[in-house]
This record gives sequence, structure tokens and C-alpha cells, in this order.
Amino acid sequence: MSTNVYFEQYGDPQVLKVGPEDLPEPAEGEVRVEFRAVGVNPMDWQLVAGQLSNVAPLELPEVPGSEAAGIVTAVGPAVGPASEGFTVGDEVIWNGFTGGYRLEAVVPAEQLTPLPAGVDFEQAACIPVAGGTAYSALKQLGVDEGDTVLIHAAAGGVGSAAVQIAQAFGARVIGTASEAHQDYLRELGAEAVPYGPGLADRVRAAAEEAGAVTAVLDAAGTEESVAATVELLPDRSRAVVTAPSKHSQDAGIAAVQQEEGRIMEVATLAAEGLITFTIAHRLPLVEAADALELSRSGHGHGKIVLLP
Ligand SMILES: NC(=O)c1ccc[n+]([C@@H]2O[C@H](COP(=O)([O-])OP(=O)(O)OC[C@H]3O[C@@H](n4cnc5c(N)ncnc54)[C@H](OP(=O)(O)O)[C@@H]3O)[C@@H](O)[C@H]2O)c1
Repeated sequence: MSTNVYFEQYGDPQVLKVGPEDLPEPAEGEVRVEFRAVGVNPMDWQLVAGQLSNVAPLELPEVPGSEAAGIVTAVGPAVGPASEGFTVGDEVIWNGFTGGYRLEAVVPAEQLTPLPAGVDFEQAACIPVAGGTAYSALKQLGVDEGDTVLIHAAAGGVGSAAVQIAQAFGARVIGTASEAHQDYLRELGAEAVPYGPGLADRVRAAAEEAGAVTAVLDAAGTEESVAATVELLPDRSRAVVTAPSKHSQDAGIAAVQQEEGRIMEVATLAAEGLITFTIAHRLPLVEAADALELSRSGHGHGKIVLLP
């Protein structure tokens, strides 16, 4: 018997319900995982609100949650060490589309990545979406030590991961955030710039010391962030947005494409101490609705995780 958090109708986070569920035995190619930490992302409340129903129609009830980390408790046929390589007791990272807000889940083995030694479950649960998206965007941009990267919304889950990964790639980073998160960005090693009117001028002033902006990762996708990118970056092909909008599309800025192997790459960076996710909030799984309210506020820093 497990517990899940589900919704039977679209709405605000308070439509979430908590209930027991019987888990099936893992079928061929499947694995049962006891989740020790579950990552929360903006996509989760967007899914519950029905904002993704055009691109991803759901059959309700559905369980939100697309990332978690835990321990394998059972494997189905053809999932032993001789095939996909997972066995009972393995520590793993899971990444899917839905179904993560559970104490225990049966998932396809192909959605698992082995957890490297030295990375705890809370950190691991933050790797797939924020870490994987930041990594993919920076790879898409080809960021390296010659770059000064502007990261819009740098204090958020994606942004704070991107600040650290870009530095691991050798780049200099200018990050934007609200006034409340300027010190946080500096702690991460970025040159901090508040967003708001005059953004491009402030970035230009910061860039004078750090070198002109050569690439942009936009995790905001607002009219203002897109306008600043257009003003600061002559080569539009060196900009990527994780939150595509009419503004980014009109400006011809590409949306992030998820890179194959990204979860293992970020897990390795985490194991090497090159990225540490800030856990801003830890909540019990049964309080997932409150976690989604926090995420929906849109002004968090780092990540939110749900714990058993
Ligand atoms: N395409 C994909 O596969 C993919 C994957 C992951 C995420 N995403 C999208 O990427 C976006 C960021 O995700 P996330 O997980 O980083 O979200 P998050 O953790 O909720 O962070 C959002 C950040 O946005 C900042 N922000 C709020 N208003 C802003 C503004 N007007 N200008 C600039 N920054 C502003 C906030 O900073 P302050 O608190 O300092 O205001 C906050 O730190 C979301 O839209 C998400 O849906 C897409």
C-alpha cells in the first residue's frame, strides 16, 4: 500500500487530494521505487491548473510530479543486472512526465538513472528538471570559458542551477533576480542585477567589468527579459528560453531542447561538488498543495522538495 497525491479536476493547488493506493507488481521492464524525495516544479501546478491540457491532454484522475529520487524495492522481469542493470536496493533518480507525488511508484526502468555516491536524495530529486534543463540550455548555447552568460530569473530552480553549471563550464555569469535575491546570486558566484525598468543598461554596466554578454539563458520569458536580450545580444542564435512566450517567439529565440544524458551529466557535477541545489522549502508529501502554492507564487529561490 502506498500514498499518492492526485487531482480529479483541473484547478488551483487546493484541488489536490491525498489517498492510499495499491501498487501493482512491476511488469516487464518496470521497477518499483520508494521515493525518499520528490522535486516540485512550476510544471506541476501548471498541469493541475489545466494549462498544459492543449499540449498534454490527461485522463483524470492524475498524479502530478515529474522527478524524484529513492531506492529500488522490486524489479519486474527483464530488469535484473543482466539487462537494464537495476536491482533491489539500488539508489536511483527518476524522471517522467507525471506520477511523482507518491511514496512509492512503479515506473519504467528506462526512466531511471543510477544515483552517484555522495549525492543525497534531496539533491538528487532536484537534478532532472531544473538541473537537466539548465544543462541542456547551456549545451545548446555551446557555453564555455570564453563566454559571459546572462541568465534571466537566475535565482529560480533552473536559473540557480544554470549559474553554477555555466561556471563549471568556465563561463562568467551575470544573473537577474528581484532585489530580495541579489545576495543569493552573489553567493552562487554570479554578478547580480535586479530586473525591472532599465534592465539592459544595468546588465551592460555589469558586463563592462565581466566582458560583453555573449550568450543568454532566459528562464523568465517576459517582455522585459526578451527585450533586454535583443538589445544586448547581436547574435540571436546564442539565446535560449526555458519559458517560451509570444515575446520570445516574436524575437526568434529558440526554446530549450532537452539533451540526451543530461541527468547523469548533472548528477556527476553534483557528485563532484560543482552544483548544489538550494532547498528553499521541505514539505511533507501530504502537504503538496502548499508546495504548489509556493511554486505558483513565482518568486522562490532554489528548489522545493516533498519528503515522505
Ligand atoms: N521547457 C522545459 O522543459 C522547462 C523545464 C523547467 C522549467 N521550465 C520553465 O522555466 C521557467 C523557470 O522555471 P524554474 O523552475 O526556475 O521556476 P522557479 O523556481 O519558480 O523560479 C522562477 C524565478 O523567476 C523569477 N522571476 C519572477 N518574476 C520575474 C521577472 N519579471 N523577471 C525575471 N525573473 C523573474 C523569480 O525570481 P525572484 O524571486 O527574484 O523574483 C524566480 O526565482 C518556468 O516558466 C518553467 O515552467 C521549462
